[in-house]
Amino acid sequence: MDLADLTRDLETLRDDALEAIATASDRASLQALEVDILGKKGRLTLVSRGIGALPVEDRPKVGAIANPVRQAIEAAFTERDAVLHAGALEDRLRTETVDVTTPGRPVARGTLHPSLEAMREIADIFARFGFTVYESPEIEDDVTNFQLLNIPPDHPARDLWDTLYVDLPGHLLRTHTSPGQIRVMRATRPPIRALLPGRCFRYEAVDASHDFEFFQVEGLMVDEGTTMGDLRGLLDEFARAMFGAGRKTRFRPGYYPFTEPSVAFDVECLVCGGAGCPACGRTGWMTILGAGMVHPVVLRSGGLDPERYQGFAFGMGPERMKMLKHAITDLRLFMDDDLRFLGQFR
Ligand code: PHE
Repeated sequence: MDLADLTRDLETLRDDALEAIATASDRASLQALEVDILGKKGRLTLVSRGIGALPVEDRPKVGAIANPVRQAIEAAFTERDAVLHAGALEDRLRTETVDVTTPGRPVARGTLHPSLEAMREIADIFARFGFTVYESPEIEDDVTNFQLLNIPPDHPARDLWDTLYVDLPGHLLRTHTSPGQIRVMRATRPPIRALLPGRCFRYEAVDASHDFEFFQVEGLMVDEGTTMGDLRGLLDEFARAMFGAGRKTRFRPGYYPFTEPSVAFDVECLVCGGAGCPACGRTGWMTILGAGMVHPVVLRSGGLDPERYQGFAFGMGPERMKMLKHAITDLRLFMDDDLRFLGQFR
């Protein structure tokens, strides 16, 4: 074997290879051919073994002959592969149809939970009157949840707010957002206009209108010379913003240990407009919240002098607002995870 033999072998291999590549009819056979020629045990490798049999002085010259051969073969593979690939694409374009006018698939978007949406609506309305949103803890101490709100340990009113106790002496899951009143009064100075939305808990037998977990939005205003007329005016504005202009409203006497006097605030029935129907128990009115003038004991609990400051407070259920607005009849839907219900809100 001399340099001339090797050169001839390489050229023969190149010519064979280029012809086979040019006539390969699909990408799979082209790939098989590539292994056969350029692979570790391929034909080019075998021919190159002949180098070992050359006289020593010829060996450095081999590269100049072998490299162009390898490059020519590799280039031919690349080029043929591109041609076959384009051909396969054209075949697909010819046989498959793409309807570019088909509408896209809608992407599912999340929605706000209806309780959260209601709390935002409420906060937006009261923001127009200068109310700021505060937070207050869900795990509360007995003193703040009850005693500072004028409900001593053995007071019969505790039966209204039976709750779940946590494994921390003197602590419980708050039964209402009213302890937030104390926390706000102690943290800021009058004039106070606070809104306290949040989760509450009660030891309840669950039914269509009671749950052991629900939300409340508490409102508190304290200033010098705050009157019940201010309370009524504000709640009227709220009811109209929430349920529509021109809604009739009324105060009824109510009872809460932390307000005096206490009221229930009603709006004209949203279903029958006041005529009387099953939805309003044939009274023509629907109760939307409880409210009253902050009890002097509570003002004192908050560190304020009741001779100087007066205030009002109110508490409402955001779920109840949604139920009244949309004629939802079961409170439990709010804490279930049924997206057919939850997805109907913004
Ligand atoms: N905390 C009362 C309740 O849970 C609601 C309320 C709040 C009443 C503020 C009057 C004033 O029922």
